[in-house]
Amino acid sequence: MKILVINGPNINMLGIREPEIYGKGTYRDLISVVESAAARLGVTAAFFQSNHEGAIVDVIQEAYGNYDGIVINPAAYTHTSVAILDALKSVGIPTVEVHISDVSEREDFRQVSYVRTACIKTIMGEGFAGYIHAMEVLCEERKEEED
Ligand code: DQA
Repeated sequence: MKILVINGPNINMLGIREPEIYGKGTYRDLISVVESAAARLGVTAAFFQSNHEGAIVDVIQEAYGNYDGIVINPAAYTHTSVAILDALKSVGIPTVEVHISDVSEREDFRQVSYVRTACIKTIMGEGFAGYIHAMEVLCEERKEEED
């Protein structure tokens, strides 16, 4: 099973960026955590991070026929991007939405998620472990599809 892990704007600034909200771990640390979990789960994880909405749309489109699942933290684009929602709907790849922080406890403008309707599950407030949880959800989903 091949999973594409997509992170949106400012996720490359983890460790520097608002550590009281996002923790002290860096984006590199996040990749290590997810890679270890992927090995344990027997899946292959590939990573993509961009600060640009169109680049995220492009990588979702390129995932068509190449990946079995997507884990996406669209970051700020969660709350604004119809283009990312439409890209996810276009490819129809099972997708889990992840947020490091618990967005449900934050500002009003973070309560909207455009991508959510294209996702099988949303995980928030679990820190980096949320990405592992998301891969587990995709593995479960895959098992159910096979049964
Ligand atoms: C975030 C939450 C978003 O509201 C914010 O814009 C981010 C990160 C999270 O992982 O908690 O950049 O997606």
